Amino acid sequence: MAKKEKIVVGLLGAGTVGGGVLKVLEKNAADIAKKAGVEIVISKVMGLDIEGMKKEFGEGHIYTKNFADIVDDPEIDIVVELIGREHPAKEFIKEALEKGKNVVTANKDVIAKFGKELFPIAAEHGVDLMFEASVCGGIPIIEPMRNVMSCNKIKSIMGIVNGTTNYMLSKMSNEHLDYDEVLKEAQAKGYAESDPTADVGGLDAARKMAILSSLAFNMDIDLDDVYVEGIEKIQACDIKYAQDLGYCVKLLGIAKYTDSFGASARVTPAMLPVDHPLATVNGVYNAVFVKGDAIGEAMFLGLGAGRFPTASSVVGDIMTVARNINAGATGRLGMVQYREKRLCPPEAMTSPSYIRMSVLDQPGALAAIAAAFAAQNVSLRNVIQKDNNGGTDIVIITHAVSRSSLEMALLQLNVLPVVEKICCVISVEDRNLE
Ligand code: HSE
Repeated sequence: MAKKEKIVVGLLGAGTVGGGVLKVLEKNAADIAKKAGVEIVISKVMGLDIEGMKKEFGEGHIYTKNFADIVDDPEIDIVVELIGREHPAKEFIKEALEKGKNVVTANKDVIAKFGKELFPIAAEHGVDLMFEASVCGGIPIIEPMRNVMSCNKIKSIMGIVNGTTNYMLSKMSNEHLDYDEVLKEAQAKGYAESDPTADVGGLDAARKMAILSSLAFNMDIDLDDVYVEGIEKIQACDIKYAQDLGYCVKLLGIAKYTDSFGASARVTPAMLPVDHPLATVNGVYNAVFVKGDAIGEAMFLGLGAGRFPTASSVVGDIMTVARNINAGATGRLGMVQYREKRLCPPEAMTSPSYIRMSVLDQPGALAAIAAAFAAQNVSLRNVIQKDNNGGTDIVIITHAVSRSSLEMALLQLNVLPVVEKICCVISVEDRNLE
């Protein structure tokens, strides 16, 4: 097969990330061509503001509002989808694959939800569908999992995979600020998604964990299979209690696989011992901590969002596809899911838990609370009682407990006359229990 002298790209979306891709490809063009072994040019760019795009990115590209101008252009080898959200991005990707185009995308919504439909289409047409930027922006984690780490049996992945919530929790920890205050600040700084509930409620992280766990365990793990809790109930006092006990609080994505129970994936606020490598990851930084049977422990750290970090992953994918095209090797690496889906039952997923409740400070209160836990066979590890803003807090850390037993105990606690409110529940991730 004759090698192409240049690889032609059609870009869908010239916003924050699309603009970054145009700029990186222009700035580093000579080196990129040498490293990819071929010149890479963006011939057409699809966006809404044609005049604005011309002004920002110059006259060197054809600008269009029309997807057909890109997908039906026989010169275009790679369609890069950076418009985001589910629709029409999914339909654009599908049509491009069906028309024999390689696709690079940063779209976690589409890959998490429609990956299982799209990867077979890419395989059928012998083209690449690349998605490095869909998880943790600039951190290379998808390619290591698909390539250099793929000889491992991955046992677990723990990740700080949402920058907004990590920024908020870091700020709450360092400056002892409350939730509402730091959320406003994260929004003002533009870190939060357009709908910040996806960040603080854990959905953004759940999408990334669905993608990562499917890849790590070679099993189709849907977004609906990921158990999700957000950080909305965490207050500065929870972080303070955690600090007093030697922990920090993070929103963690946790995915595990065991031969006995199968796979589990969840996103949950978690207390991590301060000497855990992930405990050092603060601000908008993301990190993914992987345990494999051969590699041992490895941590991938970097910026999970932003114009140039995300563009770095997108352009890296474009270069990989360019090399594959000239090697006649596109379609070689899909999402390999050979394992039958087997999800760990909730009663087999255990970890210690932190529970803060506000209670009436009266005789027998603690005994009634302890009895409610005992009735569900939940054993207590630490108990703290403290005055808090005129009320009384009881903070309990349990020994390892299954989610189902904990939920039963919480239901029982909720109806006790001495318990005014269960304010916050946080999972505790001790290293020796991972
Ligand atoms: N809002 C996301 C975050 C951006 O805060 O990490 C990338 O998904």
